Amino acid sequence: MDRIIIKGGNELRGIIPISGAKNAALPLMIASLLTSDTLTLENVPHLADVEQLVRILGNHGVDVAVNGRRENQDGSYARTIHFTCRTIADVTAPYELVSKMRASFWVIGPLLAREGQARVSLPGGCAIGTRPVDLFLESLKALGAEMEIDAGYVNARAPKGGLVGARYTFPKVSVGATHVMLMAASLANGTTVIGNAAREPEIVDLAKCLNAMGAKITGAGTSTITVEGVTSLAGARHRVMPDRIETGTYAMAVAMTGGDVEITETDPAFLETALEAIRRAGAEVTTTERGIRVRRNGGGISPVDVVTDPYPGFPTDMQAQFMGLMTRSSGVSHITETIFENRFMHVQELARLGAKITLNDRTARIEGVPRLKGAPVMATDLRASVSLVIAGLAAEGETTVSRVYHLDRGFERLEEKLTRCGAQVERVTD
Ligand code: UD1
Repeated sequence: MDRIIIKGGNELRGIIPISGAKNAALPLMIASLLTSDTLTLENVPHLADVEQLVRILGNHGVDVAVNGRRENQDGSYARTIHFTCRTIADVTAPYELVSKMRASFWVIGPLLAREGQARVSLPGGCAIGTRPVDLFLESLKALGAEMEIDAGYVNARAPKGGLVGARYTFPKVSVGATHVMLMAASLANGTTVIGNAAREPEIVDLAKCLNAMGAKITGAGTSTITVEGVTSLAGARHRVMPDRIETGTYAMAVAMTGGDVEITETDPAFLETALEAIRRAGAEVTTTERGIRVRRNGGGISPVDVVTDPYPGFPTDMQAQFMGLMTRSSGVSHITETIFENRFMHVQELARLGAKITLNDRTARIEGVPRLKGAPVMATDLRASVSLVIAGLAAEGETTVSRVYHLDRGFERLEEKLTRCGAQVERVTD
């Protein structure tokens, strides 16, 4: 199993190119199930989760052809992948595949819409809380689907003439359930109005792609989305949006170590709340033609309180990283997690590096310390693991992060991107 060894203390200086967004690529890939034509996606990141979804889609009959993998001058990769699902080969998404990645449950939407039925395994346990699927089931029922849970599987069936457009308001904002509603409603009979929809930029990206395929979606990016159903969707070519979580993570890394980095091929508009928090922490963040420039030269890190919220609030996916940054602040900060229960597994690992953090229900109190000291630590989930890297970059001595397969799920060539900016980060394969 791979480990990452970090020798802390170096400032970051240089350029970090941002990859395509994992959280946009996954629903976009799943959208290929909606058409018998080819959906071509550009800027697909090379990540374990993407490869896992390729296997899952293959099981449903999607033919995947990777081409145009081209290394850009700055070392970034641009991958173009063609997805073609002539016919749905299998409407079952088995436990062995779904349990490895929760987002694969989302195939339920397109399978129901195109094939009229789906048999999808419940995702099962997850390191960051129970993460139920009730919102998916209720919203698809609103479109006329019949749902039955049997032996760990959801058996879903559309009415005879197909799904029927409806008005449905989510009792709670869910990114995944909004993605699924967009896909299912696109092929339903009549109009669907989704209330309390997620407003994440990845929702907008999916809606853009579906519209390019012939869907009629308006209002994506606001809390009310209207989908006029169409009888079929065609192929399209779409570029996956930049990864805003990766962008914010590297911005926090620079704020942590000090230095001067331009983060390119990204769009600061997608992460204003997080960038504002980084500014308040003492880094200078400016917009450039290609993305953002983050600098911290000499000044210390100020304590900043944040509360996670659905977009446009502070993202839960940057909470662990921001906590990493706050461990070195000059005072006391508080981080409150409102989206997921149990998303504080990084706290104990950060404590191994000398951080002073106490937990009270959903709020962490972080008392900044003047220095962290390297230690062996363990990655527990995707975002938690990168918070340990951020802390390790600023810690004295050597930090070894084990279980880096969590990192590989969502960060493309992390050690390479950091090393190019002067960090001492090395991957070791046992
Ligand atoms: C997506 C992101 C993930 C991010 C999260 C919140 C992807 C692939 N993943 O996850 O990185 O952390 O959004 O921004 O895009 N919930 C229910 N019932 C449901 C569905 C969700 O109660 O049926 C709850 C969840 O347990 C959680 C909250 O709703 O407490 C938000 O979850 P959701 O927005 O659905 O997250 P994901 O789409 O799984």
